[in-house]
Amino acid sequence: MEVSESNLGAQRQKKPKLVWQGLKKSKHIFVVFSAQCRVAFPEKKMYRFIARPFVHLRSSNVARACFSTTPSCLHKANARKRLQGTGAVPQRAGLANDKQIYLDWNAKKTSVYHHFWLRDHCRCEQCYHPQTRQRLVDTFAIPRDIQPTSVDSTPEGLAVIWPDGHQSLYAWDWLHTHSYSPVLRTSDPLESKQPQLWDASLNLPAVDHEEVMHSKEGLAKWLNNLEVYGIAFVDNTPTTIEATEALGRRLCYLRETHYDRGMWSIQANLHHADTAYTTLGLGAHTDNTYFTEPAGLQMFHKLEFNGKGGESLFVDGFNVAKQLKALSPEAYRTLSTTHVPTHSAGDDDILIVPTPRAYPILNHDPNGRLYQVRYNNNDRSALDHLSSAQLEAFYDALFMWSKLLKDKKNELWEPLNPGRVVIFDNWRVLHGRAAFEGHRLLCGAYFPWDDYKSRARTVRLTSEDKDRLL
Ligand code: OGA
Ligand code: ZN
Ligand code: ZN
Repeated sequence: MEVSESNLGAQRQKKPKLVWQGLKKSKHIFVVFSAQCRVAFPEKKMYRFIARPFVHLRSSNVARACFSTTPSCLHKANARKRLQGTGAVPQRAGLANDKQIYLDWNAKKTSVYHHFWLRDHCRCEQCYHPQTRQRLVDTFAIPRDIQPTSVDSTPEGLAVIWPDGHQSLYAWDWLHTHSYSPVLRTSDPLESKQPQLWDASLNLPAVDHEEVMHSKEGLAKWLNNLEVYGIAFVDNTPTTIEATEALGRRLCYLRETHYDRGMWSIQANLHHADTAYTTLGLGAHTDNTYFTEPAGLQMFHKLEFNGKGGESLFVDGFNVAKQLKALSPEAYRTLSTTHVPTHSAGDDDILIVPTPRAYPILNHDPNGRLYQVRYNNNDRSALDHLSSAQLEAFYDALFMWSKLLKDKKNELWEPLNPGRVVIFDNWRVLHGRAAFEGHRLLCGAYFPWDDYKSRARTVRLTSEDKDRLL
């Protein structure tokens, strides 16, 4: 019988029929249960101990189990506890049925793991390359009905021996992190940090250029601002394209686009056929809505300015989305489900549209978490795919969105004087600029999302974290 998460507890409350109990040595009690290979503790006092079952299966119709009574205090939590892991060590372990192993983490939390899953996820050097961190085991050569011949609870983790003699060891932290039935992790450090929403009152301390360029702490501070607020400032940067590029490259590769090879600079000269190359103001938008994958980050550095206006505008798109949801869940749903076609087609030799052709303004991951805002009303193509009712609903929602975007309390205006570099999350923070007069030279770059995130993770996570989290 398949023991599911919900009926496992109930199952275990039934006292198993004890068939045979062996000699009580100083450290071991030998126990044989009836046929179903279900392992449980007949005596309450044993609950204080870590189960150490050597389970020999299928010798007959009978499962013979041996539990070590190693006191749990001898099972030290993994050293990893002090880093990122929970340090959780199960109080009991055993066979749930002929398909799964169970681990009791505490009185309320029990995880079950399929035998096949365990064999497929063996982390020994033959099954998983320790350096490349790639699977070596041939999943398809594992019998689908594989069962362990022995399961042992050790201070380092769960030791399993398979019918062909192969030995696996699963660290407790690793098992806890990857518990899938039920899911026990409360956060995933591989995912983005919890965003802190902000508005016009944001007063984010800038990190000094020297600190970012020459210390890991400075780099970490900078990246932390980016991950948490979606925006980060660096002060005292030399006002050259080269120094700005070097700062950007401290983060990751630059992304080439049809505008430029890495670093771009804009002046009001229509060098490209785009409003950015004029003196006109630009409303809050995200860049690259016309790319299948919009740039993850964007960097600006105003190298030269002699005129009036031209301040930079930033708006926290996640905060505005939250406000919209509170104001009108219906409008939020509309902007999350209506696919908006976009394009970039100003230059003669350019005709970019995304694949698929259109994306919603608010994009959610499979868990329903908002992860990306794509909004540039100027780059929207003809809306010719919506029904009359959908079209009306879309415009209604768009008006609400735009009103919130332009609400003074959401607008962070920043003069961005030469020397101050801003980098922001182009999947979250919308940007714009005031119209200007005079001479204004702005340089900057785009960065790919995955490479930026990879850099942020490797700065905050260790090699052991990688092993635990993957
Ligand atoms: C852009 C843009 C802002 C600026 O080029 O997409 O938003 O300050 N520019 O010129
Ligand atoms: Zn292995
Ligand atoms: Zn822009």
